[in-house]
Amino acid sequence: MITYVDVTADTPRSRTSAIKLYGADAFEGMRRAGRIAAETLDALVPLVVPGVTTGELDDFARNAIVAAGAIPINIGYSGYAHATCISVNHVVCHGIPGAKTLMAGDILNIDLTAVIDGWHGDTSRMFLVGDVPLKAKRLVHVTYECMMLGIEQAHPGNHLGDIGHAIQRHAEKNRYGVVRDFVGHGVGLVYHDEPDVAHYGRPGTGPELRPGMMFTIEPMINIGKPGVKILDDDWTAVTRDRSLSAQFEHSIGITEQGAEIFTLSPKGLHHPPYR
Ligand code: MF3
Ligand code: CO
Ligand code: CO
Repeated sequence: MITYVDVTADTPRSRTSAIKLYGADAFEGMRRAGRIAAETLDALVPLVVPGVTTGELDDFARNAIVAAGAIPINIGYSGYAHATCISVNHVVCHGIPGAKTLMAGDILNIDLTAVIDGWHGDTSRMFLVGDVPLKAKRLVHVTYECMMLGIEQAHPGNHLGDIGHAIQRHAEKNRYGVVRDFVGHGVGLVYHDEPDVAHYGRPGTGPELRPGMMFTIEPMINIGKPGVKILDDDWTAVTRDRSLSAQFEHSIGITEQGAEIFTLSPKGLHHPPYR
């Protein structure tokens, strides 16, 4: 059974089975958190060049989030030690930043979350390093369209299945595979809250969308099959068939009018190419 709860000062700050419905102050808080997260991705754009390491990008992101007065909440999250996940080429998500040097032709996702006053701004974008083959650029472009088509379905009266369906339909029309093993999630005062937001599904199924809901939409789309496997580090997810994978993520809130995107790029750097 699906239940909803209006968030008040004494609502527990933990994941519970009820879907949280937030009020106006929460939207104000999420705008601030989302802006810091998006500004951090904006600031990374000029740094993503051949020769930089993913560890250097992570250091920059951590410092930028802290300088903005926010918490890089991924650090310490289930034992994770970095501010970002940086997922290059066939890495689907949860790539661990480190010594890896980026090369022209790579595509990568940088995913980060900034917390301010308890509000979680969770967002990711794709980046292209130097000249990138057309088939990789096409994957990145279609994945961005998938996320935005999902967001278009995010309005009161629709159901979560309408979002998943719109994403899946567009990906599969392009003969891409939609990853099933990772989903979007409720967001707000809790990082990964109810409900799960699948990036596939059937229209009219799943929880109905109500004003005050906040969640992420973060489709992972593969050029090949949907299957993923986890590397021996027990963390990094890669495509089973080693095909390229792309992802974009926004944190959004449902209003009477539709979706408000909390993590829009202030500089208009919504998708690559950024220059
Ligand atoms: N930001 C990721 C998400 O979109 C979660 C990263 S968890 C971490 O939900 F521990 F790997 F950082
Ligand atoms: Co997320
Ligand atoms: Co994220």
